[in-house]
Amino acid sequence: MDKFIVMGGARLTGEISVSGAKNAILPIMAASLLTAGKSTLFNIPIIKDVLVMQKVMEYLGAKVSITGNVMYIDSDGVEPREIGENLMRQLRASNLVIGSLLSRFRKIKVAFPGGCNIGSRPMDLHMKGLAALGTKITERYGFIEAEATNLHGAEIHLDFPSVGATENLMMAATLAEGTTIIRNAAKEPEIVDLQNYLNGLGARVKGAGLDTIKIEGVKKLGSVEHTIIPDRIEAGTHLVAAAITGGDVLVTDIIPDHLEPVIAKLKEAEVKITRYNESVRVVAPGRVKAVDFKTMPYPGFPTDMQPQLMALLTIADGTSVVAESIFENRFKHIDELRRMGASIKLEGKVAIIKGVPTLSGAFVEATDLRAGAALVLAGLAAEDATVIENVEYIDRGYERLESKYNALGARIMRVNNSRNGS
Ligand code: UD1
Repeated sequence: MDKFIVMGGARLTGEISVSGAKNAILPIMAASLLTAGKSTLFNIPIIKDVLVMQKVMEYLGAKVSITGNVMYIDSDGVEPREIGENLMRQLRASNLVIGSLLSRFRKIKVAFPGGCNIGSRPMDLHMKGLAALGTKITERYGFIEAEATNLHGAEIHLDFPSVGATENLMMAATLAEGTTIIRNAAKEPEIVDLQNYLNGLGARVKGAGLDTIKIEGVKKLGSVEHTIIPDRIEAGTHLVAAAITGGDVLVTDIIPDHLEPVIAKLKEAEVKITRYNESVRVVAPGRVKAVDFKTMPYPGFPTDMQPQLMALLTIADGTSVVAESIFENRFKHIDELRRMGASIKLEGKVAIIKGVPTLSGAFVEATDLRAGAALVLAGLAAEDATVIENVEYIDRGYERLESKYNALGARIMRVNNSRNGS
């Protein structure tokens, strides 16, 4: 396990480019299993989660290769092989192959993906939707077995706009007989990217980005070239990095509209933000102002940015209240931030953060991807050195985060634990 040593106190300045979106490429890779054709994906992020998804797809018989930031997928040889616990547990998003494999082969067996560090993450909404499409589902011995001899269109109303359930159902409905309507669908930009990819393959999907998505089933799909949208969470993390270090940074290669919920909160905290077509400039104020926020499905404030913004609020002027409404267990970074001198009280799903003038470096642990990012941000602002263990979590979703920040003036060192014998 690698660790980061972050020397705090450097002001970040300059330009930083954002990679393709993790949460767009993972469902799109899963969707590429729908066709016997080829997919060429541009602007892919080279991150751990993508490489694990590649393993899942190769296990199923897909040919996947990566050159620079382009991925080539040939799904001709794919077979609906049983996927065991070992692969399914490595990556929560592996559950997205259920919709595509079921649609193409009408039969699948996969190990239950299980929970993760931020919450229990059940699959009931996915299963209810697939059942409405005519799938017989059995859950036993830790496996989900699903069979759909007559996969057909249906009207589905999701109890909650789950991102994964919306994506799985879009994929399952693509090759089903007839029309499917998904109401109360997730509206995240990554859902729109999936729709664009599917339609590029020859699917007939409409409405992504709105409450209701309509899919008219087609018999067969072809090949496609598609560019992955920029990662709005990576971009949001960089906005906070500039704000927390008193910096002046231009965040490039993004779609500023996708960042609006984050930009709005930062502006409220008195961070100066200028929007351009495909970039945003952030200029930090002397000290940010405390703000309250609650995580919500898109276009609300993203749960994937909650830990990072909280890191900033630990040194804000005043007291902030943060409510987490998406995941029940997404506050593990609080204990770590407290080690660095933050004053945070947790009352159920609500954190009360009393801003302190400075944080101080400490030994901390990344407990999940975004918690890890929050600790890097806190470390950049802290006095002295912060040592962050379990950097692998950060590598799951950020491409060379330390190199990107070092190019802006940060001082982050990656240390390989095994090499140092510790
Ligand atoms: C996706 C994102 C993740 C983000 C999350 C919420 C990917 C690969 N991951 O995860 O980064 O944090 O959206 O924006 O895109 N739920 C149920 N039953 C279900 C499905 C979900 O109760 O069948 C609940 C979950 O437990 C959670 C909430 O719904 O509390 C949101 O989950 P969901 O939107 O499905 O998130 P993911 O697709 O897993």
